[in-house]
Amino acid sequence: MNIVGASLARPDALDKVVGAAQYPSDVIDASMLRLAAVFAHRAHARILAIDTAAARAVPGVVAVFTAADVPHNRYGLIDADQELLCSGIVRYEGDRVALVVAETEAIARSAAALVDVRYEDLPAVADAEAALRPGAPEVHAGRSNVLLHQKIRKGDVDAAFAGADLVLTGRFTTTWQEHAYLQPDAAVAYADGERVVIETAGQWLHEDRRQIAALLGLAEEQVVVRYLKIGGAFGGREDLSVQPLAALAAWKLRRPVAIVWNREESITGHHKRHPFTIDTTWGARRDGTIVAVKTRTIADGGAYASTSIEVLKCATIFAQGPYHVPNVWTDGIVVYTNNVPSGAFRGFGSPQAHFAAESMIARVAHALGLDPVDVRRRNLYREGDREATGHPLPAGVAAHAVLDRCVEETRARFTATRAPAGARVRRGSAIACGIKNVGYSFGFPEQATATVELRGAARIEGAVVRCGAADVGQGSHLILRQIAAETLALPLSAVALVAESSDDAPNAGSASASRMTLMGGRAVHDAAAAARQAFERGERPAAATACYRPPATTRLDPETGDGVPNYCYGYVAQGVEVAVDTLTGLVHVERVVSVHDVGRAVNRQQVEGQIEGCIAQAVGYALTENFVVQQGAIATRHFSSYLLPTTLDVPVEIVPVILEGADPNGPYGARGMSEMPLVPFAAAIAAAIHDAAGVWVSDQPFTPERVLDALQRARVDAVTMPAALSR
Ligand code: MOS
Repeated sequence: MNIVGASLARPDALDKVVGAAQYPSDVIDASMLRLAAVFAHRAHARILAIDTAAARAVPGVVAVFTAADVPHNRYGLIDADQELLCSGIVRYEGDRVALVVAETEAIARSAAALVDVRYEDLPAVADAEAALRPGAPEVHAGRSNVLLHQKIRKGDVDAAFAGADLVLTGRFTTTWQEHAYLQPDAAVAYADGERVVIETAGQWLHEDRRQIAALLGLAEEQVVVRYLKIGGAFGGREDLSVQPLAALAAWKLRRPVAIVWNREESITGHHKRHPFTIDTTWGARRDGTIVAVKTRTIADGGAYASTSIEVLKCATIFAQGPYHVPNVWTDGIVVYTNNVPSGAFRGFGSPQAHFAAESMIARVAHALGLDPVDVRRRNLYREGDREATGHPLPAGVAAHAVLDRCVEETRARFTATRAPAGARVRRGSAIACGIKNVGYSFGFPEQATATVELRGAARIEGAVVRCGAADVGQGSHLILRQIAAETLALPLSAVALVAESSDDAPNAGSASASRMTLMGGRAVHDAAAAARQAFERGERPAAATACYRPPATTRLDPETGDGVPNYCYGYVAQGVEVAVDTLTGLVHVERVVSVHDVGRAVNRQQVEGQIEGCIAQAVGYALTENFVVQQGAIATRHFSSYLLPTTLDVPVEIVPVILEGADPNGPYGARGMSEMPLVPFAAAIAAAIHDAAGVWVSDQPFTPERVLDALQRARVDAVTMPAALSR
């Protein structure tokens, strides 16, 4: 084995660095018509009338489309609860009510401002708790605001709390997170005979095709989705945004069209990570054994379903973190509100759940006077343990292995000298653990398909691999070629990959849920192995198709949670070292050790790159990215008010540590890892802040204001509370 495991350079790297790579907005030419969407900018309102006359009268305007122009005006990734152009009701400010088509972008945008929509404002649901109140306005008339209430009931939590030596309660909140992919939403589209072709960026060619075909009332074969270079996705391209708008205009007008959202439109128009409020109570014995966890999680799903129900099921199964707990009671609730829709974002519910769970296990340890690492070791999942959902974990439980290694690595590296007491800047460190599923869960018919065709007469000289996998920047295309080259004993240069178009590459499923290396990679491996056998049997051309299906999962019982949620988990342990400025409240992350069991690193450098990039995103999520929505209006619609971490915020030292305990199903043992570094990070930072400054923060992100507030409350408590009560 010399190709799998090698740190081969990314073939797309140079073009991306010098600006030669073609992203969707790079293929627009002056002959294309340009589109501008008319946004509602209302939280909840009835459309009384839309007057497009003034917009149509602008010279250079070709058409103005409204709901009546959409053949089948319903779509959505799981639940088709969204209209492409709203017909009667708008449910959040980013809803689109009309689409202007013009000769230039400037004309399209100025005409869009002239589309006159008359609204009657309706009472809006401003937050998740409000959605549950009796008499709350219905976000979707005739439907409950509750999208999902998933329960897990295992053992007897009340009896366990009664017998516990310590019972601790915490409330944790998180806010929305914006994906902030560098390349905003863009698409070009044109009609090609009886087909419409959309060149864009996304995460799943065949699912985009399915939804666009349904919207236009076309057969799937009449829609071709092609991905150009994709400038990041992170879950933010799981839902459609501009693609069907471009397809609609191109199909109706039979002319090439293009649409590019600016940053404000992208932030307003596409879904976010879910804000959570988590109330959780943990019971423990004096020795640190966790005996019960009772949790209520409520998340704001926003105006449309997106992937909310799946995100919440994931958050629900991870309410007790990566720990074996005998008594578990969990309520996971997600509701409709009149806020920006929430959906997929790297980690998919697991980061929010772990912020609470990993903070709680650290607090339990401190309250008992025990070492948090020892308490974790006492409770961490082991091979063969049952999940709270009642069935054994999939094989390859690496929770202890990653923690043990993390302890070793941090001991060697975290040498920071504590600032003397009273100093303004305090340093601290902490460790946190995590678990996250790889692949689709809860009975979804998970599959990936690939085709391999071989060249050569006497011996195999080359291969064409077809696999419709999105390379969102994570490097999946190189990984798939490495796996094929290894399996066929070919040099990498002899393996060509066809992956960019729904009409010439089979369905590999989504580039999400950290699944493409395991799923797409396994399909490519199996197809390559079968093609090689065909070659050896003398077939010419030798070719094979493989559809890989992993071990089956099941839905969860809605009342008890019983079921087999997943076929694979990734495990992570992180150590962080922070400096807390007690005068300003500013927290700086100085060092991170991130330990992952990736099964097998197909390309070590790419795994390290995913760890480093994900930690940059985790720094933003934990500390700086404070997404604010007030009464349905997004207050942080620019990067000037929504603070992404910069080079100066990223830790000076990130130590990626890769363990390789082979996964039973992955190609060459590989399992996914690209989401894992975000899972324990915020809880590790919270515990390190406590280590440094003696206060717990419970509301994410840990902005300077919040940290200062916690420090000030601690000072007040110290002078007003009896010593025995203050911790
Ligand atoms: Mo993802 S958050 O599974 O694209």
